[in-house]
Amino acid sequence: MTIAIDASGITDTFAFVIHPIHPKRDAVRKFPLLAPLFTEKQIDFLSAYFPPLYISEINGVRSESTGKEARGWFVACPFTPTRMMQLPVNQVYNKIVGCGHKAEKLGARMMGLGAFTSVVGDAGVTIANRLDIPVTTGDGYTIAMAVEAVRKAAQVMDIPLHTAKTAVVGATGAIGSVCAQLLAEDVAEIMLIGRRESALQQVREQCEGKHASVEVGTDMHMIHDADLVLTVTSAIDTVIYPEHLKPGAVVCDVARPRDVSMTVAQKRDDVLVIEGGMVEVPGPVDFHFDFGFPPKMAFACMAETMALALEGRYEDYSIGKTLTVEHAREINEICTRHGFKLGGFRSFEKEVTPEQIARVRAKAHITRKDWTPIRA
Ligand SMILES: NC(=O)c1ccc[n+]([C@@H]2O[C@H](COP(=O)([O-])OP(=O)(O)OC[C@H]3O[C@@H](n4cnc5c(N)ncnc54)[C@H](OP(=O)(O)O)[C@@H]3O)[C@@H](O)[C@H]2O)c1
Repeated sequence: MTIAIDASGITDTFAFVIHPIHPKRDAVRKFPLLAPLFTEKQIDFLSAYFPPLYISEINGVRSESTGKEARGWFVACPFTPTRMMQLPVNQVYNKIVGCGHKAEKLGARMMGLGAFTSVVGDAGVTIANRLDIPVTTGDGYTIAMAVEAVRKAAQVMDIPLHTAKTAVVGATGAIGSVCAQLLAEDVAEIMLIGRRESALQQVREQCEGKHASVEVGTDMHMIHDADLVLTVTSAIDTVIYPEHLKPGAVVCDVARPRDVSMTVAQKRDDVLVIEGGMVEVPGPVDFHFDFGFPPKMAFACMAETMALALEGRYEDYSIGKTLTVEHAREINEICTRHGFKLGGFRSFEKEVTPEQIARVRAKAHITRKDWTPIRA
């Protein structure tokens, strides 16, 4: 392919595919005058007929180790997660491949698949085969950052990892299975929660022989005993509710749409829910688009795409459903070297302050007195 060089001489380029999660809220972000005229249902239905959409240019991603800059673009796949699950998978692939063609025309040399565009079908394999530019789901760095966020949150909540009971919800998934393997190296007990017993047994085998004892199950109430919960299902609706959680528990929600119900924020001021995967980008980055994060912050999957461009690794990267611990470690090393790092904690789209953490700890100290484990 011909490499596009702009006036600044930047040759490292990428595109990242985003999509609406809440049809109305996200459509209003792009079309503030038009979108309010439609109902949520209408927007969701009509989205199937929208073409891939150019959103914005991304400038100022600069490597701390080489000083090189990368330039990128957001391209939107108009489908919501619900639409992606309802429509035939080929129709969804076609739309994402359309985003890829748009990215190629813009001059991108790498394309990242955001949120549900990375979940559908075979997690990027078919899409990569149908495009000239390489593709990543960004799942490798998402795994690394989710596990780091759990470790850091445990530290601030005074939960020693080596004695912690830990649950991974969505443990049979591309992200969940590797997170489980990494956490099993540190924690005392790991509970793998999923829907399919046979798939859970496979993940159990991958987790055994490390520090943690391993348990599997399909009942969400198992997490009632967990000190730490990492949740990363591809469920459309929330799966974790106030009654599931132990006082003082840390829940890291990596899923988009989120797994933890808003009622947890409303009813459980004795647990710490954090969003997994917020990363600080090196350089004076400007996304020219508000995707709901503070300045300089990106999702880990976006960060992976940027880092691969800075690294000049123009090859299919985190694609397919079977990633490995070694893969997550490699991309973590690449991202860290270029200056990407875990951003601060956020909970339900708001910053988590040290005062809030202190309040959660104090409240948990009280509510723990009335709490009994489900299993002795
Ligand atoms: N924050 C970020 O930067 C970032 C980056 C990439 C992806 N993500 C998000 O991460 C999530 C998972 O992605 P993935 O690629 O790992 O997906 P995946 O490979 O399809 O795995 C999904 C997991 O969720 C489970 N699951 C699906 N529906 C469920 C339900 N209704 N109740 C309980 N469990 C359910 C699946 O169980 P079965 O195996 O039994 O079907 C599987 O374990 C998605 O929400 C995605 O948007 C976030």
